[in-house]
Amino acid sequence: MNRIAVVPGSFDPVTLGHLDVIERAAGLFDEVHVVVVHNPDKNALLPIAQRVSLIERSIADAGVAGTIVVASWSVGLLVDYCTDVGAQVLIKGIRSQIDVAYETPMAIVNRNLAAVETVFMLPDPSHAHVSSSLVRQVAALGGDVRPYVPAAVYEFLQKT
Ligand code: PNS
Repeated sequence: MNRIAVVPGSFDPVTLGHLDVIERAAGLFDEVHVVVVHNPDKNALLPIAQRVSLIERSIADAGVAGTIVVASWSVGLLVDYCTDVGAQVLIKGIRSQIDVAYETPMAIVNRNLAAVETVFMLPDPSHAHVSSSLVRQVAALGGDVRPYVPAAVYEFLQKT
């Protein structure tokens, strides 16, 4: 049986913490789909297509092994994407108890909706303080985001 996992998120932009989770997921599953989802609760910085492209470049630059598909999803429930591609598992990176509290209701709803299980994954502790919203803020105010994002993202942010 082909074990397929989906790593969803806003990825606005992808961070080193995200990349760490993607790499760990690729080591555990036959196929990993990294899915960029529009989160209406957040003010977006980058268009979805740009986020997809930066994830693809970051994965390639890091030489992550395994079968990884980068996609976007905006037409309905995330579990519909999972059903479409035959994924049984969603993977969420957990940095703190705040993430557990935020993710737990979604995990239960997604399981009730479509029997898709959620696996909570711990990134390396060195990424525990890294978030896309922090990166957006530091970048907007002219700070150095190099410690937090893949080189492709840093270069892109420098140009914008
Ligand atoms: O990176 P984020 O913004 O924390 O990711 C949150 C995201 C996009 C994964 C979450 O908002 C989501 O799953 N949205 C899809 C909409 C959906 O299926 N909602 C119902 C079940 S939670």
